[in-house]
Amino acid sequence: MTILLTGGAGFIGSHTYVALTQAGHEAVIVDNFYNSSQEVISRLQTITGKAVPYYDVDVCDHHALDQVFQKHSFDAVIHFAGYKAVGESVGMPIEYYRNNLDSTLTLCEVMRERGVNRIVFSSSATVYGMTDDMPLKETMSSGGCTNPYGWTKYMIEQILRDVADANPSWAVALLRYFNPIGAHESGLIGEDPVGLPNNLMPFITQVASGKLKELNIFGNDYPTPDGTGIRDYIHVVDLAQGHLDACAYLMAHTGCEVFNLGTGVGYSVLDMVHTFERVNNVTVPFHIAPRRPGDIARCFADPSKAEKLLGWKAHKSLEDMCIDAWRWQSLNPNGYATV
Ligand code: UFG
Repeated sequence: MTILLTGGAGFIGSHTYVALTQAGHEAVIVDNFYNSSQEVISRLQTITGKAVPYYDVDVCDHHALDQVFQKHSFDAVIHFAGYKAVGESVGMPIEYYRNNLDSTLTLCEVMRERGVNRIVFSSSATVYGMTDDMPLKETMSSGGCTNPYGWTKYMIEQILRDVADANPSWAVALLRYFNPIGAHESGLIGEDPVGLPNNLMPFITQVASGKLKELNIFGNDYPTPDGTGIRDYIHVVDLAQGHLDACAYLMAHTGCEVFNLGTGVGYSVLDMVHTFERVNNVTVPFHIAPRRPGDIARCFADPSKAEKLLGWKAHKSLEDMCIDAWRWQSLNPNGYATV
């Protein structure tokens, strides 16, 4: 397969590039490097041993994107590109709606014009909103998102569902990610947040390395066994494989399907801290802080649909996630900026 990866230099996109290339497929990256580094490209080259086809193009730029489609014959597109910071989206709703929706609509227009009709979309468990009903199943209702970022995922899902309904030859897979963490085992690519990390694992790794003083655990009074929030953490390499399996599925099916990509197992914030300390032999000082607005007590997937229809399942353990995240942090104390 020849696959276009929009946002292919990002955290999940770069791991998916490796998975596709190592499985013998051709992957082409389009990224404007707004929230990613050019250094990713040379790291990908080192991992795969091949030149990386990439274009420094904004997906909102119809003309530039069209030129990429003219140069390649894509079987499918995986659409990762988009703004992704939950907190930032609350203060910048116009930018989030403009960028995330515009890029998707522009991509769909170019796909239609160039006769490419398979798309995998990077969605999120956040579209399930503030529910207590666990595990989350694809048949449950979505909506009630707590921030503009989440609403853009919800709206793009709806756009793509409508496109598939209107065009019976289209094939759409909406992948709802749970909490992707970890890094490629080479330690060459990983998550490189800009500024202070919002998410738990990059915060833990930066505390363990001494870059940050201590972790704030957002609440220990949730109705969970140890009082801290429970999430379904998934290794980014397992997640990347889910995209390959989704592309293969779309080669044989039309219409629109939603898939949860999670492990089905939830761990608490304290489980994360203690496992990280144990497997990496480091300490992660923390203190208990107030709850973070918008957080729910528990969030974990029922991933059985992906296993049944895609033949996909997460294999890596929480220990693997912690070891690989720490290797990435240790080898790249300043992320991609070290080079
Ligand atoms: N947490 C802390 N301290 C921190 C950061 C996080 O205690 O410094 C806790 C949170 O309260 C939560 C857990 O760690 O209980 C995980 O928080 P993350 O920020 O890592 O992840 P979220 O589950 O809040 O959000 C993630 C993605 C979103 C996505 C959402 C889907 O970051 O993009 O999952 O449910 F929308």
